[in-house]
Amino acid sequence: MTRLSLLVDLVSMLAREVDLDAWLEDAAGRLAEALGAERATLWLVDAEADDLVARVAVLPEVRDLRQPFGRGIAGLVAAGGQVLRIDDAASDPRFDPSADRRTGFTTRTVIAAPIREHDGAPLRGVVQVLNRAAGPFDAEDERYLVALGRELGRALALTTLAPAADEAPGVVLQGPFNLIVGRGPAMDAVYERVTLAAQADATVLLRGETGTGKTLLARAIHVNSPRAAGPFVTVDATTLPTALVESELFGHERGAFTGADRRVRGRVELAQGGTLFLDEVGDLPPEIQGKLLRFLQERAFERVGGRETLRADVRIVTATHHDLEQAVDEGRFRADLYYRLRVLEIDVPRLADRGPDEIERLARHFAERYARRYGRPSHRFEPDALHYLRSHTFPGNVRELEHWVESAVVLAPDGVLTLSRLPSARTTRRAPPPASDAVSIPHGLSRDEAGERYVRATVEQLGGNQSEAARRLGVSRNTVARVVRTRS
Ligand SMILES: Nc1ncnc2c1ncn2[C@@H]1O[C@H](COP(=O)(O)OP(=O)(O)OP(=O)(O)O)[C@@H](O)[C@H]1O
Ligand SMILES: [Mg+2]
Repeated sequence: MTRLSLLVDLVSMLAREVDLDAWLEDAAGRLAEALGAERATLWLVDAEADDLVARVAVLPEVRDLRQPFGRGIAGLVAAGGQVLRIDDAASDPRFDPSADRRTGFTTRTVIAAPIREHDGAPLRGVVQVLNRAAGPFDAEDERYLVALGRELGRALALTTLAPAADEAPGVVLQGPFNLIVGRGPAMDAVYERVTLAAQADATVLLRGETGTGKTLLARAIHVNSPRAAGPFVTVDATTLPTALVESELFGHERGAFTGADRRVRGRVELAQGGTLFLDEVGDLPPEIQGKLLRFLQERAFERVGGRETLRADVRIVTATHHDLEQAVDEGRFRADLYYRLRVLEIDVPRLADRGPDEIERLARHFAERYARRYGRPSHRFEPDALHYLRSHTFPGNVRELEHWVESAVVLAPDGVLTLSRLPSARTTRRAPPPASDAVSIPHGLSRDEAGERYVRATVEQLGGNQSEAARRLGVSRNTVARVVRTRS
């Protein structure tokens, strides 16, 4: 099952806000390990540059590795769309030694397969593995790599490495973090800080207007931090009555108040080993601010009605759309807490300040996403609709744009997004976040459990066809049958 669980791990990571460069590197490293090989590379077809790229080179300091179509093994697979296996690179005319000359690596054996949803589908990339320790690659390796390439192709369609449209070749590099779209200077500054925040364990304060992506970025910080395997727990101070905020955060003992008929652990305890995200921290009631400050200073707290002092190893990320300085001046927010929270401050720009190209990029991203969700055909924006979006100042920021585009997609069974199908320029109200449409395997499952769920989900998706599921996942029919039989 290790080859299968590798696939599950890789695909389920793509449902999160992972750093895509780190994901590509990690995926390649683990793939090499699974195949007993020295090295692996995931190449993506860059739709804009018309070549293969091994890194999501959006940030200027990230050096990208590129390969033209038709040159070298990966280039040949990209051009021909067929899997290639090479048993002796030195004597094979298809092998291009120039990369080895640059890196000092000596390639002996190679296997490379296309990344795409199915035979004949547009190519998204190439997965390539070099130098298996125990002799050349065999037919089983080949089948596995082809299956992996298909699963990766399907998974990528749900990420921000998605193509511009279903039928278009390649992928469009939309930003360094999965599911987060934007690659202009305004967002690059944010990404830089998110990367730093992910590496350091310091308290983070995300600031920005409503709908700018604070929650999304908070998750990105967690997912790319050493705490990624731990829980990500959210508390939103605005959704709870003041009396409940303290017990929600720190828990309560049995009998602490009327109705407290059992001990309940607070969010702080539930976040042990992970990240606690305090949303709308500016709205935290004054009574709780002191307790939060103590927790930030000592990582110590008591449950409501409890005497025992407890400790939790938790990283705190907070967000607010309020002007905290003003709240401090007016005495509504403790100054000492304010300084504790802003160890690492990230200002998330308004959508209007990111420029029209970013608006268009996000609009296309949401159109693609919702067309998929509602089973609509690939979208096309009419020029006047696009012009209107590009020049509108969205007071509700990205969330408002997302709602506009979702609504236009629903109103357009033909896929043509016209001006008349866009909602009028009114401020939209808050709505619950949309459910994810990614292949969803809950986190925190054991590898075997996750693997089995993945098999069952695939069988279900294929209407019960176990042979097809086995082919798609690159495992034996017996494995699939066994997993389906053991369904509890
Ligand atoms: N850069 C982005 N790329 C893709 N989607 C985005 C981006 N920014 C925001 N969104 C989407 O817009 C919506 C609002 O984002 P989010 O909830 O993170 O905003 P927020 O700043 O936390 O808002 P609030 O202050 O109201 O809590 C979400 O559906 C989110 O997925
Ligand atoms: Mg939010």
